[in-house]
Amino acid sequence: MLCLGIESTAHTFGVGFVSERKGKSEILGGHKEMYVPPKGSGIHPREAADHHAELCADVLQRALENANVRLDDVNVVAYSQGPGLPPCLRVGATFARMLAARLKKPLVGANHCIAHIEIGKLTTGAEDAVVVYVSGGNTQVIAYAEGRYRIFGETEDVAIGNALDTFARAAGLQEPGGPKIEALAKGGAYIELPYVVKGMDLSFAGLITEAEKRLKRGARLEDLCFSLQETCFAMLTEVTERALAHTGKNEVLLTGGVASNRRLIEMLQTMCGERGATLRVVERAYSGDNGVMIAYAGLLAYKARQILKPKNSKIIQMWRTDEVECGWLSEKAKSEHD
Ligand code: ATP
Ligand code: FE2
Repeated sequence: MLCLGIESTAHTFGVGFVSERKGKSEILGGHKEMYVPPKGSGIHPREAADHHAELCADVLQRALENANVRLDDVNVVAYSQGPGLPPCLRVGATFARMLAARLKKPLVGANHCIAHIEIGKLTTGAEDAVVVYVSGGNTQVIAYAEGRYRIFGETEDVAIGNALDTFARAAGLQEPGGPKIEALAKGGAYIELPYVVKGMDLSFAGLITEAEKRLKRGARLEDLCFSLQETCFAMLTEVTERALAHTGKNEVLLTGGVASNRRLIEMLQTMCGERGATLRVVERAYSGDNGVMIAYAGLLAYKARQILKPKNSKIIQMWRTDEVECGWLSEKAKSEHD
């Protein structure tokens, strides 16, 4: 069983391959290209979509070569159906429909956020973790309960990666801002910034506005970078700890682009260590957006018979993690395929 996955929710256009034999999934590889907005501006959805449309055939070709597979051997075509930026999502969906029609193979729509979680479980061995999903477009603390991934806490406004990128732009740093802030933070000292946790939810907008104000008034950039990280990550760690306490789980799975930040890993590690929980961090190749995760999520959905007819294959711009039916997680679906 060979599944082709297409990622196209925002900056990244990726194609990846996952195969399954005797119930064991194997990542075969793929290729991705990233749209980089002009300096000083955020992502422009239509320009990103043009980038994806221009490159999709080349990305497919290189993915086939890297994974060492033939297009004719593909059994299932999966694509990121949402959530994401509509112009970008449409490019991926159209490409997927075209490939499925040409190959005469089933089409499966994957939820992008669930794909991050499932590839994280596959690559780290996490079984029943509290998931900390932190990226440019999402900030959610998630845990599985009764057939679905439930959101225990999330941002009330911007996502953490977007918040860091916004501040980085204001400071004249190049996109993506997260890694630049991480590097500068190493030489910084602490300045108090708004720490906003409401119940289990988080808010980053006020924090960024305050940091930008301080920057204009002449605060050291290194100090602001350090303090931004300390504040955002402490907020996240607090909510994650409470999710662990509430659910009684003893594993944390960290994923999304911001998961590569060493300071965030360190803070979560300290908290997990104190609670006797295990922290699993998704490696960089699979924590950022990629086609392989869509192939794997597609494979799971296919096994749970969640196949789409073309008329149901419209993109879903807002598709919350807790709205997704995860048939593959139910005991029935599991035992049928073991
Ligand atoms: P999604 O569609 O899931 O929201 P995305 O399009 O934002 O994902 P990702 O690759 O998951 O793409 O995440 C990119 C984000 O990760 C950017 O905001 C970037 O600044 C941030 N990031 C990357 N590396 C680091 C780092 N070392 N520290 C902090 N943030 C980082
Ligand atoms: Fe993502």
